[in-house]
Amino acid sequence: MMPRLHRSITSGLLIIWILSLTVYGGPLQADSSLDRIDCLPGGVEYGEDACLRKGCVWDPNVSNGIPHCFVPKKGYGYKVASAKLEYGRSFSVELERIAVDKSLYGGDYDRITFEVTYISNEILRFKLRDMENKRFQVPVQEKFELLNDLPEISTLAYKIDFNETIGEQFSFAIRRHYDNTILWDTSIGGLTFADQFLQIATYLPTENIYGFGENVHESFRHNMQYKTWALFSRDEPPSNGNINLYGVHPFYTCLENNGKSHGVLLLNSNAMDYTLLPAPALSYRAIGGILDFFVFVGETPEDVIFHYTSLIGRPVMPPYWALGFQISRYGYNNIGSMMAAVERTKNNNIPLDVQHADIDHMNNEKDFTWDEDNFPDLDKYMEREKEKGMHFIIILDPALVANDSSYEPYFEGLSRKVYITWPEDIPEEDRDYPPNVDTSTGIMFGKVWPPGPVAFPDFFKKETQEWWVEQIVKYYNNGLKFDGIWIDMNEPANFGTNHDIPWYCHDKENPGVCWSLHCPINKYDDPPYKTYAAYAYGKDVRLSDKTVCLAGTQGNNDMYRHYDVHSIYAWGQVIATLEAAHRATGQRSIVITRNTYPSFGQWAGHWLGDNFSRWVDLHRSIIGMLEFNLFGIPYVGADICGFFDVPSPEMCKRWQQLGAFYPFSRNHNGLNNPEQDPGAFGDEVAIPARRALEIRYRLLPYIYTLFYFSSLLGSTVVRPVFHEFPTDKNTFGIDRQFLWGPAVLISPVLEEGQTVVKAYLPNDVWYNYKTGQKETEVGKEIQITDLEDPPIHIRGGFILPAQDPGLNTAESRKNPMSLLVYLKDGQAVGDLFWDDGVSVGKKKS
Ligand code: NOJ
Repeated sequence: MMPRLHRSITSGLLIIWILSLTVYGGPLQADSSLDRIDCLPGGVEYGEDACLRKGCVWDPNVSNGIPHCFVPKKGYGYKVASAKLEYGRSFSVELERIAVDKSLYGGDYDRITFEVTYISNEILRFKLRDMENKRFQVPVQEKFELLNDLPEISTLAYKIDFNETIGEQFSFAIRRHYDNTILWDTSIGGLTFADQFLQIATYLPTENIYGFGENVHESFRHNMQYKTWALFSRDEPPSNGNINLYGVHPFYTCLENNGKSHGVLLLNSNAMDYTLLPAPALSYRAIGGILDFFVFVGETPEDVIFHYTSLIGRPVMPPYWALGFQISRYGYNNIGSMMAAVERTKNNNIPLDVQHADIDHMNNEKDFTWDEDNFPDLDKYMEREKEKGMHFIIILDPALVANDSSYEPYFEGLSRKVYITWPEDIPEEDRDYPPNVDTSTGIMFGKVWPPGPVAFPDFFKKETQEWWVEQIVKYYNNGLKFDGIWIDMNEPANFGTNHDIPWYCHDKENPGVCWSLHCPINKYDDPPYKTYAAYAYGKDVRLSDKTVCLAGTQGNNDMYRHYDVHSIYAWGQVIATLEAAHRATGQRSIVITRNTYPSFGQWAGHWLGDNFSRWVDLHRSIIGMLEFNLFGIPYVGADICGFFDVPSPEMCKRWQQLGAFYPFSRNHNGLNNPEQDPGAFGDEVAIPARRALEIRYRLLPYIYTLFYFSSLLGSTVVRPVFHEFPTDKNTFGIDRQFLWGPAVLISPVLEEGQTVVKAYLPNDVWYNYKTGQKETEVGKEIQITDLEDPPIHIRGGFILPAQDPGLNTAESRKNPMSLLVYLKDGQAVGDLFWDDGVSVGKKKS
């Protein structure tokens, strides 16, 4: 048990909301141009003929993204085939496909089961699945908490009803018990359950929809104008468009009309896409697994995340030092430039806790090695710096090089059969192997950073997890004494899949250098509907582009297809990596991962990937950070000053000021760019960066306490403003400001040459952090012109625990602590969680 002090300075703050009740009379209905389920998604086929061939309705007279071809609402889908069967906390109903002679993508199931389970008072689960229950179901639920421990049900916060008449078209509605608000209503139609095409749609109670990811949403509150987004993990920089990035989170929250909120998780890890319709409505299309939904019926928006993380698992508690500022770059290339960056930061009195080592510190990009020619005595340097309070995070990529006879980690893995293999049903002659490898292993080789073919560990095998833990611990004992681990490229990323001339091929005559994995044609790599995960890049793009072949098999006894588990590739890896880091360091440690899926926050944090040095990326980073807080992964941040391209000093200054408020606050830079650590530009960046980080370091006891509550209760750390003011309409669309917990409002500069920040202050008591003055104008937008430091307001009624800043957290933790008290009506409350910052403890609720 870690020692802990958890003192509630005053308890019992009572918040009373005036609820405006909205009672819906019946099912939500919309104008027919607002609720169309697109029948030709992806634009592969188009036109009236294609539409009618699928049995859909054609309407040439619409524009603005409204589908011309749509699924008929009536006479399509399933009808009730049996009476409701009740078993304690669940019931099921058999459904039969409505007889039509056409099909959207073929392979429709004639009979399926609708199964409902009351998981808790606030959590409802419903599944639409095959009757034999044989189809793939997402294995991460093995680590879900509530499923093995169902609490007693007393009064359910929800009710679910459907027309039970046998032979009637099936649809159902989920209502909030308390006021009958309809949360889900599938009478919009479109229900499809086919082997490789599953579709379901629902009306929504409001347009206040948040979440889903990982995508680059232009606004935190969703655009409902027939916007379609893809979900399938991919090595894809956060750029423009409806593309899918590194992780997958089929989870959204909805703010209802009375400040109440609910959330919905679709537990499906196959490639999918989702569309937001103006009705307002939502449709999902997935190409495998089953339709497995959880509905979280909360009281408040924060309550929804509390219930969501009660199921998927509460976030990991970071060590205290991991909340300090961090620097990194891909391409220090030698120890001299790494040391110079650290020294520059320190010489400018910029607080600094962590130095990262990217793949360029390795020997030929091989995990568990370091380049002793260019990074001589890196181990000793790390030891020296650690004595001064610094910490180090090293990177690990999953794929290991296979053609280096001296590289033991690969061969140990080989003897323990840890790698992804070709499936037995793909004949030898159709498998693509690089030249000069041992094909008898059956391994599906690929190409990533190291010079030579690589093999991908299959973390669904227990043996692989154990092997991975052993490699990490061995490396710690014999090599670098890291403090945390950064796991990258785990979507998993593969270079040049299916490309005849891959981007890394500079010597086209040399097949050893230019080989890239080509996937044979098969039902997994070439499904009938590829989802926007492929179509967003073009009609001919395959889902296996940038990754391994989806037909590959994984797990013990080849129990999974990569097709099903692709987006959760890193699940076993995050668990094993944190375990290894604990075992190696004997301390709490931190793992940051690029691939994420619901539940990964239990073991790891995340950075938002390879962004660009562009002004728009500052704004986008706030949206991404807010979304990951909804996903139960609050330890998140973007690469400060941008990964690709070159930031101007002004941009880097503003980004450092914003990034000082990312929970994971790291300046990281891409290969071959000029230095961009905050000391690299002179005073123009160094001074504002230092001042912003000093505010962060002063408030670290507060943010550490927020993480404590997050790990205990799932509460967000970086919080959307509407989570604290859910009945104030002005807050619903805010994504240029954000809160730290309930009390610290940050309104950063996000534009070039900006001289005024327009900041909305909800109707409450607010103090300007810099001046300590109480704001006189609230419930409106104010204009802030002092932009020397990041504009911050503190909410009256709160006490923030604080500590004088130091040049790292080892130093700051020795400094005097204080309580910053901001009164409201003469009162204030606050919390402090304090411990040694590194012990590994067990959570208690
Ligand atoms: C891709 C990662 O997203 C980036 O952060 C890293 O620097 C490079 N890989 C090199 O390891």
